[in-house]
Amino acid sequence: MSLSLGTLGIYAQNSGIQSSVKNVEKKVDSVLNLMTLEEKVGQMIQYNGSWDLTGPASETGNKQKEERLKKGLVGSMLNVLSVEATEKAQRMNMENSRIKIPLMFGYDVIHGYKTIFPVPLGETASWDMEAAEESARIAALESVAEGVNWTFSPMIDISRDARWGRIMEGSGEDPYLTSKVAVAKVRGYQGDDLSNPKTIAATAKHFAGYGLAEGGKDYNAVNIGKNELHNVVLPPFKAAADAGVATFMNSFNTIDGIPATGSKSLQREILKDRWDWQGFMVSDWGSIAEMIPHGFARDKIHAAEIAVKAGSDMDMEGGAYEIGLEKLVAEGKVDEALIDDAVKRILRVKFKMGLFEDPYKYIDANLMASVPYEEHKSTARDIAKKSIVLLKNENNLLPIKNSVKNIAVIGPLADDKDSPIGNWRAQGEANSAVSMLEGLKNAVSKETNITYSQGVTLGKGERSFLMPLDINKTDRSGISEAVENAKNAELVIMVLGEDAFQSGEGRSQANIGLAGLQKELLKEIHKVNKNIALVLINGRPMEITWSSENIPAIVEAWQLGTESGNAIADVLLGKYNPSGKLPVSFPRAVGQEPLYYNHKNTGRPYSAEHVTYSHYTDIKDGPLYPFGFGLSYTDFEYGKPKISKTELNAGDSLSLNISVTNSGKVKGREVVQLYLRDLIATSARPVKELKGFKLVELETGETKNVEFTIDEEMLKFYTASEKWQAENGEFELMVGGNSEDVQSIKFNFSK
Ligand code: BGC
Repeated sequence: MSLSLGTLGIYAQNSGIQSSVKNVEKKVDSVLNLMTLEEKVGQMIQYNGSWDLTGPASETGNKQKEERLKKGLVGSMLNVLSVEATEKAQRMNMENSRIKIPLMFGYDVIHGYKTIFPVPLGETASWDMEAAEESARIAALESVAEGVNWTFSPMIDISRDARWGRIMEGSGEDPYLTSKVAVAKVRGYQGDDLSNPKTIAATAKHFAGYGLAEGGKDYNAVNIGKNELHNVVLPPFKAAADAGVATFMNSFNTIDGIPATGSKSLQREILKDRWDWQGFMVSDWGSIAEMIPHGFARDKIHAAEIAVKAGSDMDMEGGAYEIGLEKLVAEGKVDEALIDDAVKRILRVKFKMGLFEDPYKYIDANLMASVPYEEHKSTARDIAKKSIVLLKNENNLLPIKNSVKNIAVIGPLADDKDSPIGNWRAQGEANSAVSMLEGLKNAVSKETNITYSQGVTLGKGERSFLMPLDINKTDRSGISEAVENAKNAELVIMVLGEDAFQSGEGRSQANIGLAGLQKELLKEIHKVNKNIALVLINGRPMEITWSSENIPAIVEAWQLGTESGNAIADVLLGKYNPSGKLPVSFPRAVGQEPLYYNHKNTGRPYSAEHVTYSHYTDIKDGPLYPFGFGLSYTDFEYGKPKISKTELNAGDSLSLNISVTNSGKVKGREVVQLYLRDLIATSARPVKELKGFKLVELETGETKNVEFTIDEEMLKFYTASEKWQAENGEFELMVGGNSEDVQSIKFNFSK
C-alpha cells in the first residue's frame, strides 16, 4: 500500500492496522516517499521542550522551535512533561504540518517516574530480575500517564570506577549481570508490544564505553582496545539489541581517539550491520556538536557530516543537523540515502509504537486517575528492601532485638527525605521519601524510645541538578547533642553517606569517603558508644575502611527511593532478612580505583617474599567488600559442587549441581553465583567472570539443589582472531555466595 498525503491523515486515525514487520516496512517506505528533504531532516532533530535543562541549550530560540514544529520539522522532543504539554506540542505538529508525522516524547525516566525506586546500582544489588522488570513497567505506566512515551533508559555502561558519578545510574562492573538487567528493563518498559499505550520505548545508553572514562572523570576519554570493548563493554548492548530495544543513545566520550558519536565502526558496522539492529540512534545531549571541542570536527556542519555518516540518526538539542544536513546533501557531501536510512529507522519506531494509528494514543487525560500510585509504593518498598546489602554484622547486632528500648538515631541523612530519592529522579518530588527516621518510628513498638540528632549537616544551601553541592566542613555545632544522645542509648543507628546530588552526571569525585564532617561525627559517637549500626545512603561504592574495622554493623542502603525509610526499617528490625549482594567492588582506598573482580591476571600475581609483584605496598590487596558479597541474618552452607562430566564437546552441555542449606535460625534468600575462567586462551582472560546466578529461598534447615547448565555458548569470548567463539582447553568453574568465597571444579572443552 502506498500512501498519499490525504490517506496518511485517514490512516493516522485508523486504529485497526496490523503491525507485522512486513507491513511496517511498506508503510515506512510509503511515508518516506512523500517527504521532502527538509521534512526528512526534520525527523532527525530533537528539541528540548522545557526548562529542565540537562546541558548547554542550543541557540535556537523557543519561538523558532514552535515554527519548526508547525512545519513538521521536528522528530521528537525531550523534557515535555504532562498530558497538556505533550498534547499541545503534538497538535501544533499534527494540525499545522504538511506531512503529519507524530512526535515522540522522551525523558530520563531512570529509576521511576513519580514513584521512585532504588537507583539502578542499588536495584541491581537485589539480583532480582523480576524486580528490575516490574519497576520499569511501573515507571512506564506512570510516564505515559503524563504523556511521556520514550525513556532514555536503561543505562548499561559497565563502570569499574567509584569516582565516576554516574556509576549510580548503571548496574556496576559486570557485563553478565548488566546484560540481564538490560533485558529485564527493556521488557519492563516496552512489554511485548510497543504499540500498547501503557508501554514506552526504551533506550540502551550510552554507546559506547562511557562508563570507563579515564580516572573516573565524567566525559573523559576512554582508552580501551578491542578485547575490552567486545568482551566487557558491548555484551549488555548486544543483549538489549536482541531484546528489541527501540532506540540507542551514543555517548560523549572518545574511544581510542574517536568520539563515539562519530564512530562508524560502533554505530554502523557493529550495531546496525553485524547485529542487524533496526531501531534508531539518538545522540547524547549536543554530542554531535561536541565533536568540535574534541578536535574531530571543524564546525557544526562538519560535525553533522561525520555524525550522519557514522550512523547517528537523531540530533538531541545540538543544532548541528538542523543547519548542516540539507546543505551537505545539496553540496553532494552526504548521500541522501544516508538520510533516508536514518528517517526510516525513526519512522519504523513510530509505526511500531502505533503513533501513526493514533498520534495521541499516549496522551490520555484520564489515565492518571487509574494509575495505582499507592500499590506502586508497596512495590517500591518491596524492591527497596531486596536491594539492601548487609556488609557487616558482628555479634549479630542486627536485627534489632525486641529488648532494645533506647535507640539514638544520628546523622545528616537520618531524617533526610530528599537524598534517598537520588539523582535522575524524573518527577519524584524533592523531600518526598520516607526518611530512615520516619521508617523506624513507623515500625517500632510504642515502648521504644528513639532520640534523633542530625549531628552535622552534609551540604549547605540549595541542592540542584546542575550545581555542585556545597559540603559543610566547618559547622560542628550539633555534635555535642548527638554525643549526649549516643551516651544514653542502648543502640546507635548512624545514617551517613552521600547527598542525592553527590553522584550522577558531572559528579565525579576524587574522594569517595564520608564527605565533610561525617567521619569526625562517627568517631566522636564511637568514643562514647560502640554499639553502632551504620546505615549508608549513597549512590556509589564508598571508601569505608575505618568503619569496617571499627563499627560492628554496616548496612548498605543506597538511595532507595520513595519508600527508603520503611525498607530500611524492615531490614533493621528483621522483618525482611537482607539478601542483596554488591554489584560492584568496594575499595579499601580510593587509590585502588578502578577496581573490579573480573580483572586479568598479571605475570606476577602474588609473592609472599618480595615486593616486586602486582600490589600496593601500603594497603592489603583486594577489595574491602568484593563483588557479589552480602550477608544474611541466617547462614547458608554450600555442599561440594559436582559436574555431570569433565569433557564437554561442542553442541553438548554439562550440568553443575550444588546443594545449599539454610543452617541458621531464620528463613532467607541466597544468590548462588557461578563464575568461569578460561585457563589458557589466545588472549589473556579474566581471573573469573560471572556466568550465571540463581536466587534461592530457603526455610530454616531446608536444603535445595541448585543446577547450572554449561555449554559452548557460555565459553565464548571475543578472541585474538576477532571472532566470538569458544576455544578448546581447560576451564575452571567456581560457585559460591560471592566472587571470592567460591569452590572450584574443572572440565575440558573440545570442538
Ligand atoms: C545525559 C543523557 C541524558 C540526556 C538527556 C545527557 O546529559 O548524558 O544520559 O539522557 O542528557 O537528558
